[in-house]
This record gives sequence, C-alpha cells and structure tokens, in this order.
Amino acid sequence: MAQRAHGANENMTPENSGGYDFVVVSNRLPVDHVIADDGSSTWQHSPGGLVTALEPVMRAADGAWVGWAGQPDLEFKPFVSDGIHIVPVTLSSDEVENYYEGFSNDTLWPLYHDVIAPPSYHREWWESYVLVNQRFADAAAAVSAAGAVVWVQDYQLQLVPKMLRTARPDLTIGFFNHIPFPPYGIYSQLPWRTQIVEGLLGADVIGFQRVADASNFSRAVRRLVGYVTKNPYIEVPGTEVPASEPNDQGQRQPPRRVLAKAFPISIDSSSFEELARRPEIQARAKEIRDGLGNPKTIMLGVDRLDYTKGIGHRLKAYGELLAEGRLDVEDVTLVQVASPSRERVQAYMQLRDEIELTVGRINGDFATMSHTAISYHHHGYPREEMVALYLAADVMLVTALRDGMNLVAKEYVASRFDGNGVLVLSEFAGASDELRRSLRINPHDIDGVKDAMIQAIEMPQLEQQRRMRAMRKLVLRNDVNQWSADFLSALRGSKNGDSVKDSEDPLGELEWTIERIRRH
Ligand code: F6P
Repeated sequence: MAQRAHGANENMTPENSGGYDFVVVSNRLPVDHVIADDGSSTWQHSPGGLVTALEPVMRAADGAWVGWAGQPDLEFKPFVSDGIHIVPVTLSSDEVENYYEGFSNDTLWPLYHDVIAPPSYHREWWESYVLVNQRFADAAAAVSAAGAVVWVQDYQLQLVPKMLRTARPDLTIGFFNHIPFPPYGIYSQLPWRTQIVEGLLGADVIGFQRVADASNFSRAVRRLVGYVTKNPYIEVPGTEVPASEPNDQGQRQPPRRVLAKAFPISIDSSSFEELARRPEIQARAKEIRDGLGNPKTIMLGVDRLDYTKGIGHRLKAYGELLAEGRLDVEDVTLVQVASPSRERVQAYMQLRDEIELTVGRINGDFATMSHTAISYHHHGYPREEMVALYLAADVMLVTALRDGMNLVAKEYVASRFDGNGVLVLSEFAGASDELRRSLRINPHDIDGVKDAMIQAIEMPQLEQQRRMRAMRKLVLRNDVNQWSADFLSALRGSKNGDSVKDSEDPLGELEWTIERIRRH
C-alpha cells in the first residue's frame, strides 16, 4: 500500500517562502490526494519511477515541487510534506480528459513509443495541452526566486521550458524526457511537431534516456527549424520580438547554446540492497516461494499494465513452452504483477481484457490442482513486497517493446545482493544500453524469447553470478544520485560565467547541492 505522507498539513505558501532556488515541475506531485469510499481524504506517496528518482534530490536541495495532485477539480494551498515544499496545480475534469488522458497518453505516449498503438490526433486535446502547460509554467515562475534553477520533467510538459523562458529569462531551465524520443519518420506525424521542438528548446539542457533519443531530437530540430547542431549542442539563434507600442523596446532573446544529451536515469540502488538484506524481507521471499508450491523456478514480470511492456509477447512465449512440453507447470511458475494504469484510456482497457483472457487460457490449459502456471496480480505493491518478490524470482522477464529506461530491471539487479538470478531484458528498453550482461532479447522474436527463457532457467549458478556481479557494479555506481548530480552539473555548466558566484547565487547554491548529492 502507498504510505501516508507525513506532515502534509504544515502551512507553506510561496509568499511566505520568499521563492525557491530549486524547483522541480512534473505532471504528478510526489504525493497523491486520495479520497476513500467513506469520503475521507489523505495524501499518499504516489507511485512511479520519476517520484522515486527525484525525492532524494528534493530533500537534499530543500526545493519546491510543482505538480498535479492526481484528482480533478480540487484546489489545494501549497504545503510541506516530508520536508518537500509542495505546490499543487489544479486540473479540471475536462483537462484531465484532454491534456492528460488525451494528448499526453493517447497522442504523445503511443507516438513516442514507436506507434505500438495508433496515436489519436485531436485539436481540442492539443489546445488543452497548451493551456495546461501554461498553467504549470505560470506556477513555476511564481515560486522561483531570481536566477533559480527549474527542472521540468517529461513529455506531459514539453512546452513549459519555452513558456518559462519567455516569462522569466533569468532562470536556468532543465528538461528531462523520461520516455523515448522517436525517430523523425515517426515524430513527423505530429501535427504540432514544430511547436513541441520549440517548446523544448526553451531549456538550457535537454536530457534523454539514450544516445539514440538525443540524436532523434537533434535531427527533428534540423529538419523542422533548421538550427545548426554540433553534437551534443544545438545553436539557437537570437530573436528580436518587434515593439508593439511606440515606446516599447521590444523583447530580445540572445542566441543560446542548448545541450541535448543522454543522461540515463537510475534508482536509489543502495536502498533496494538494504531492504533485500533485511531478514524479514528474506523470510517474506521464502513465504512467497512456499505459497507457490516451491517450484524449481519462479519467473517474474513486473510492469504497469501498458501495451509498451510486451506482456502479451511474454505470455505467448511462456504458453508455447508449456504447450510444447519444454516447460512443465510442476517445475515453473510465472508471477506477473501488472499494476493498474491509465484505466480510462481505451487502449489500456482493451489491453487489460486481452492480457486477462490470455492468463485465464494459459492457467485453464496448464494449471494443475497443486501448481498454477501464472500467478497474476492486478495491483501495485509497496517496495518491501517488491524486493521480496525480486529475491524470490530466479528469472526476471523484461520484454518491453519500447521503454525509456525500465527501472524494474535495475531494481531486480540492485536487490540481488546474493549474486543469483537471471535478467532477461529487451533490447528496446533503455536499460539494455547499460545492462549488457543480461540475456538480451528482441521481444518480437517469440522463438528467441522462448530460447532465452530456457537459457535463463538452465543457467549454471557460476555464470549467473558472473553476470549479476558485473551488472550490480554498474547499477550501484550509476544510481539516481549520480544521475541527478550529472544532470544538474550539466545545467550548472550551461551557465558557466553567466552568474556571480556568491552564497546568494542559486547556481552557486546548486553547485553545493550537487556536491552534497554526490557525497550522499
Ligand atoms: O515514465 C513515464 C511516466 O509517465 C511518468 O511520468 C509517470 O510517473 C509514470 O509513467 C506513470 O504514468 P502516469 O503518471 O500516467 O500514471
């Protein structure tokens, strides 16, 4: 279950705070406002990799977080939760439908994930996206101190950097895209492709998950606005906005050099290892195995129930192995955790029906009275339970058809302090650039996935340990602190020489924060 946010009723207003030197802007806040059936409401930590990634940074930097509380039509005053200054942005029900479910998750999401599902293009969704992005930009501008550093997150808010720069040219602006950026041939479908590229170019640093995403973006810039790109930089020419009144000087934007580069995101690795080492978590892992009838092998899939995750491909491969007798249900169980996601979007409703039909069929065909083929769970679980599952699983299956990073792969590796376990990882997940000692698969190649499952199940312990050791070294070193410190250093570097380095200077302050994060 999600935890209750502590101290959520402390008063905090931008007015009494004097403005923040470090501001994060993301669609979701790190806390969700949840209304129970009896009408009572609480603030709960909201799920998702982004929140997990940024929470430690926010605490270290004592900054403010601007975002949506997860419920339509509710207005909240800013407050402090667990040491983080929360600045809620209100969305109406129509905006949730048009900006969030519509343009973000039914236009951009499928388009940016290689059109696995067909994107829908609706002008009223775009209009809502522009309006809501402006609201986030206004809220961020209102709480940012002079010369503050603002870090905008993800595809829901791609227009915010330009809007912020227009309102507050004094700010240093970063943007990080958590999902892939598609090749130009796909991106060019978007009717508003130029506006989005221009929106992003308002940032000083634009971060992507993979090198390929950064080059896809640079290509889109060349094709759509014709700016010179010298990898990893993009030269944005200065603009002269003509004066509208006789005494008006007009507005001049100087030429800028924007850094567009890969900063692969990670997890709070040591906290996963720390949990995995706890005796009670290990006891829970054993309980899970016992509960499943102690099969020789437990395979595990953990995903948001999303069509990008390749859950159907994984089930198909597993079902065929059972049907062919290459696997026996007495020996193997697949645990599939599919956490509910975007349940009002049609493509997600349809996916749930398809997956649950397939799970039902496979269980109907192959389960015995004592052994189930697939243990399926349409829930989210707290981190403790996830780590117990990771410890219980001999094989972790990540079969995404396209994924910005896939933090689950890294969580599995971080949790396996015993060095055992095999990670089967799609080459279409960003994590595969780093986790090269996984068994890498093309999820579209069902025979290849089946062979990888068998290879994983049969892998000698020595080989498992050799592979896991190499991957663990990487995941423990390149953790989320490293990620944020690298991004913020790049942001700091983008303004080198532009600012006075004293204790009142937010960029000087940032340098100190980065140091603290690195030492953390
Ligand atoms: O990583 C992409 C992302 O959209 C994040 O921004 C978000 O935390 C996560 O997936 C879950 O999505 P949603 O906020 O739509 O539930």
